[in-house]
Amino acid sequence: MGSHTPVLLERCLELLAPALAAPGRSGRDAIHVDATLGLGGHAEAVLVGYPRLVLVGLDRDPQALRLAGERLARYADRTRLVHARYDELPGVLDELGYGPVDGVLFDLGVSSMQLDEPARGFAYARDAPLDMRMDQTRGRTAQEVVNTYDAASLARILRGYGEERFARQIASAIVRERARAPITSSARLAELVERAIPAPARRTGGHPAKRTFQALRIEVNGELDALSAGVPAALDRLAVGGRAVVLSYHSLEDRIVKQAMAVRARSSAPVDLPVEPVGSGPRLRLLTKGAELPSEVEVAANPRAASVRLRAAERIDERKRVQVKAMHQPGTRGGARHREDNDRGGGYDDVDRDDDSS
Ligand SMILES: C[S@@+](CC[C@H](N)C(=O)[O-])C[C@H]1O[C@@H](n2cnc3c(N)ncnc32)[C@H](O)[C@@H]1O
Repeated sequence: MGSHTPVLLERCLELLAPALAAPGRSGRDAIHVDATLGLGGHAEAVLVGYPRLVLVGLDRDPQALRLAGERLARYADRTRLVHARYDELPGVLDELGYGPVDGVLFDLGVSSMQLDEPARGFAYARDAPLDMRMDQTRGRTAQEVVNTYDAASLARILRGYGEERFARQIASAIVRERARAPITSSARLAELVERAIPAPARRTGGHPAKRTFQALRIEVNGELDALSAGVPAALDRLAVGGRAVVLSYHSLEDRIVKQAMAVRARSSAPVDLPVEPVGSGPRLRLLTKGAELPSEVEVAANPRAASVRLRAAERIDERKRVQVKAMHQPGTRGGARHREDNDRGGGYDDVDRDDDSS
């Protein structure tokens, strides 16, 4: 993930275009939220493409925010960069005085800057203090997790977030090792993980410590909790016609995104009601069938794209759907079928692939 090229940039722009091109459905300039600003790659392309658009950029990492601020300095009059977690988006928008927004982009995971900077402790390949916080101004470090969690909790994290087959063995090795001296460096952790994994298994699936480091990063940053709150909050802030695009790099992330979109893409009315009550129609239209994967060309040009899955949706007016339905489908069967159709639209069943985000 050493590349600085924004992942699936052209596809993201293509999906967002109909929402961002409209010069304000209510006469205002379009507002686009980049919920994971990072180094501002996607954000810059959006600002270049839409000369009147206002960008709200969030990142929990103050260093990323500073670097993105420098990169986007020439657009300062129409950018609002805020140090916040994306689950704080509703409060951020309220404070800025913005209502519904037209575009939202989430590009999850760590940035190349965070991985490339040894002092952040994200990379197993470089020796550094075990930190791994995206926001170094608050929260517990990986060092605290590794040295204080009991073996069962460590094993649960490694298995759940890292899909690590040898979670129990690694957790026991950590507990044994830290009894001798606290584990404070990424190199020492990487080495003990390697030793805890049986030799034949070390030769498959990349670096033996990759899954452990990924799992610790997710735990340290509470990534899945932030996502579970952040994606629904962003979807609910879309204006009618507004669009959201989410790039995930881990099957657990993708599952959260899929569910948040699916639940909004179907009717909220009980299936046996003959007529859908006003306002209970679908609020989203899915723009991707399942999760889109990168092309081989994209992966060859940008290794970080290898594990990406893209999902996108458009906000629709739930009341409009109801009127159409009430006019054309007055009978019991018609109403039920209509909801079934909506259910199918939101409930596609694609396969979650294993991968990692580092
Ligand atoms: C993959 S990078 C984004 C790269 C960006 N799209 C670009 O083109 O440069 C992900 C960024 O999201 C940030 N991030 C991760 N979790 C976050 C959260 N819960 N709230 C806000 N920012 C978060 C990270 O600090 C990181 O800078």
